[in-house]
Amino acid sequence: MTNESVFTLEATPIKFGAGASNEIGWELARLGAKRVMMISDRGVIEAGIAERMHALVEREGIECELFGRARVEPTLESFQEAADFALDGDFDGFVGVGGGTSLDTAKVAALIATHPAAILDYVNAPVGEGRKPPGPLKPLVAVPTTAGTGSEATTVAILDVPEERVKTGISHRYLRPHQGIVDPELTRSLPAAVTASAGLDVVCHAVESFLSRPYDARPAPESPDDRPPYQGANPVSDIWAAKALEYGGRYLRRAVADSDDVEARGAMMLAATLAGIGFGSAGVHIPHACAYPIAALKHEYTPAGYEADHPFVPHGQSVIVTSPAAFRFTYPADPDKHRRAAELLAGRELPNADEGTLPAVLLDLMRDVGAPSGIRALGYGEQDIEPLVEGALKQRRLLVIAPREAGPNELAGILRESMENW
Ligand SMILES: [Fe+2]
Repeated sequence: MTNESVFTLEATPIKFGAGASNEIGWELARLGAKRVMMISDRGVIEAGIAERMHALVEREGIECELFGRARVEPTLESFQEAADFALDGDFDGFVGVGGGTSLDTAKVAALIATHPAAILDYVNAPVGEGRKPPGPLKPLVAVPTTAGTGSEATTVAILDVPEERVKTGISHRYLRPHQGIVDPELTRSLPAAVTASAGLDVVCHAVESFLSRPYDARPAPESPDDRPPYQGANPVSDIWAAKALEYGGRYLRRAVADSDDVEARGAMMLAATLAGIGFGSAGVHIPHACAYPIAALKHEYTPAGYEADHPFVPHGQSVIVTSPAAFRFTYPADPDKHRRAAELLAGRELPNADEGTLPAVLLDLMRDVGAPSGIRALGYGEQDIEPLVEGALKQRRLLVIAPREAGPNELAGILRESMENW
């Protein structure tokens, strides 16, 4: 079997800057939309952002209907509700305004409206059928209002499947939005806890993709169609991930400490997009694979500083808690690259770096922005290790690009070490 020798470079066209969202109507008109569905969520609507975006779209002579029920932690039902709305509305364009959940819901609405089918047909196997969308989607514009998921730049939509206690998703290049509009002004209303969790997610995206298994270390696909969306680290994804690491280290503490620090919040928003482009190409692995069962297995944790109508583990918290142990484990795969990741995040040279250096830099950042100390704080104990490992193992798509093979024993070790990080 020969190894892969090709990587692809695709990125969402991004419009970035204070006031960029004022151009939302212009962008939709440019893409030829005449009647659009705007997908948003309660918090964004209460902050008055959706209403303002709605007016800007209609000012361009485009009809706009608001669907305001995107759910934090989307489920099949919440995706279906949006998809039904999309099918009934005869829309020729879609716009997501909000956090990752609104943007992911918009991707699914656009997919089902363009290529009608059961949502599960498109969901990754083994939970769904893993069918590929037959062609490009109707125009989709993504307007993030949190600096985290980078969903505007990626090809995935994540959903929670409570019956199977697992998170999975739909991933295909056609889900990549046609345009992202990233406006730092929109994050101003975010509570500090949300900024912290979203920022830790950005840092994880960047570290994981930077340290993912190189694209040329996996077997070549039989057909270009089989090349995975998550290709592994490559020279181009490294550029984006490295810049996102540098920004995360330099600006996240400031963005959390002061919501009026527009420079820091803007930089974190840019970092989210940079990291999104990086991991949209290279992928994420162990911390994200562990995060899915951590978020999906129990629904008992109520995070401080969030306005949610149901208990949940914020995504950024669920990924960051295992990152110190995960990168201690992956260190032998490429010590030099682990040192570089630590240096980028710390903003200084660390010539004597060893396996504990990157974990220590991550722990400093976690403590400084008020992250939970580990998975015990999220409601888990020793007896949960086994089901958590089982859940993580279902994320094969992610684990295959881990720089070191992580099987049941390795994952159990990482989770055990992550019970309490301090
Ligand atoms: Fe993430």
